[in-house]
Amino acid sequence: MPADLSPIDKAKFVAARRAVDFVENGMKLGLGTGSTAAWMVRCLAERVKDEGLRVVGVPTSRRTAELATELGVPITTMDEVKWLDLTIDGADEFDPNLNLIKGGGAALLQEKIVATASDRMIVIADAAKEVAQLGAFPLPVEVVPFGWQTTKALIEETLFSMDVLGRDVALRMNKSKPVKTDENNYILDLSLKRIGNPRQLALVLNQIPGVVENGLFIDICDIVVIGHGDGRVTVRDINTGKVEDASVEVAGSDNIFADLGD
Ligand code: A5P
Repeated sequence: MPADLSPIDKAKFVAARRAVDFVENGMKLGLGTGSTAAWMVRCLAERVKDEGLRVVGVPTSRRTAELATELGVPITTMDEVKWLDLTIDGADEFDPNLNLIKGGGAALLQEKIVATASDRMIVIADAAKEVAQLGAFPLPVEVVPFGWQTTKALIEETLFSMDVLGRDVALRMNKSKPVKTDENNYILDLSLKRIGNPRQLALVLNQIPGVVENGLFIDICDIVVIGHGDGRVTVRDINTGKVEDASVEVAGSDNIFADLGD
């Protein structure tokens, strides 16, 4: 591992490396989006190349599709495979029940479809993503561009009856233009500070016309692999209650770092 890799990148890398150990020959995989998921695609590509691992992945964004293709991980579409064995993805926050906030990279819609259609979902994250209660990270909500200001007003009104601390809603921008998702929708970021009842909020938001999907992932994640800057990983399984601590062997990973583009 290069000495100049920051502790946060080391943490993401070791989480990704450990999670890829769960991948078995013949599996159909959901490939997440984001900087941690990009490490996972690199680690997976290494196993495909070195061990001849046979897998096929459904990417959750154009970015991930491009990376997988570039590194030689075979990809397919959700419509082709219909159901997946395992999805590995990052998260913006996870709580003690492994409920998540996702969508910081604007890919929450495909991520939720893919994770929901998987036998198991593993979240890979650095330790800073762990929270006692969701909500410090602004909750992304994907909305259709048509009438988005009306949708925003309806969301703001709805938040008044919800158990949340903040109520600011902002259209996600890239310089002077609204960010567009892979489905050409917009993202509204809800600064809620603390979400008292994530399950209820997830259901209520999706009732609002114009809302396509929200970034709350409730009862979807099975396992979280938490990476630390010193190479340790913690694997927590919500179904069995098991917690395992280990260190990840990073020797022989130099080809992963050689491929690093960002
Ligand atoms: C993408 O839309 C997100 O759900 C990402 O999975 C999430 O933002 C985590 O990204 P990082 O791994 O880059 O922190």
